[in-house]
Amino acid sequence: MLSDVQKSAILEIARDQVRFDEPMTVHSTMHVGGPAEAFIVPRDTLMLKAVMGWASENEVPYTFMGGGSDTLVRDSGIKGIAIHLREGFNKLDISHESGDEIFVTADGGVHTGVLVRFAKEKGLAGVEGLAGIPGTVGGNVLTNAGTSLGWISDVVEEITVVERQLRELTIKRKALEFSYRCLKLPRSAAVIRALLKLKRDDPVAIEKRTAELLEKRKTTQPQGYPTLGCIFKNPQKDGKQKLFAGALIEEAGLKGVRVGKARVSEIHGNFIVNEGGALAKDVEILIGLVREHIKEKFGIILETEIHIIGEKYEG
Ligand code: EPU
Repeated sequence: MLSDVQKSAILEIARDQVRFDEPMTVHSTMHVGGPAEAFIVPRDTLMLKAVMGWASENEVPYTFMGGGSDTLVRDSGIKGIAIHLREGFNKLDISHESGDEIFVTADGGVHTGVLVRFAKEKGLAGVEGLAGIPGTVGGNVLTNAGTSLGWISDVVEEITVVERQLRELTIKRKALEFSYRCLKLPRSAAVIRALLKLKRDDPVAIEKRTAELLEKRKTTQPQGYPTLGCIFKNPQKDGKQKLFAGALIEEAGLKGVRVGKARVSEIHGNFIVNEGGALAKDVEILIGLVREHIKEKFGIILETEIHIIGEKYEG
């Protein structure tokens, strides 16, 4: 637990950008999760480095919270510091052009929806596949977010991170190890910026593709309930996707199964919906239950796409 002395030190560094015992329910798209001992929204890179540096020196754990769409924070909350890149990290602009290729810089805290709209308005293709995905550019990069229309890794040219030793590193595309729903990068690093390579296209065609994707989402994914998006990765075999977690869960008859106020969606088996007041514990137990059944029935171990953080429960 943070001591009063530690809290004073954090206040000195982060000033009005820190809140203590901040409930994560308000920062989670599923509206679950206990409080973070300290929740900091750094004003700029200088403040970000000061916070990370202080935390490392004082052996206080820190973790990054993006848009809260891919992280399940346990009800026990986050010990130490949760860092949220937002206000100070929301620049989005065209960097340079080369023929038909337009390079866009997007800070880590830019909301995915803002990026998708920006590209559409400027007639730039390449990020339509992210339409409807919650979260931030930093989170999207770390989880290689995407849909059947494309993943963010298709367009990332380079990323800039602040790593644990507080060095600001720019990593070029060829050194980035992207895979399905993953980028190999230590979780202690902050993705502060990405350079994206987009292509000029007809704004009407971009709009059409985006609208089709959003329409498909509306009919195949649960609407109106808080969720974390897909819970499990689709099982991969030899680097290829042959099976779908949602289909397996449906086949196992698990749709509609409920723990507390958390329920496996009736619309899409790979979603868990919060029917109102669900605890993170409900969600985690339900995840375990689904995994057990799928393992028993098909001999397949489902891996979660979401990250679960916080102290484990007793018993
Ligand atoms: N299916 C079922 N029952 C279900 C759900 C799906 O039989 O309850 C079947 C569908 O009929 C289809 C197949 O499974 O034949 C695949 O379903 P879908 O097209 O919905 O795609 P998905 O693989 O389940 C992926 C991403 C989604 C993304 C969609 C659309 C993963 C884990 N999920 O879902 O991403 O929105 O494609 O492109 O890769 C997310 O990452 O949070 C997410 C929601």
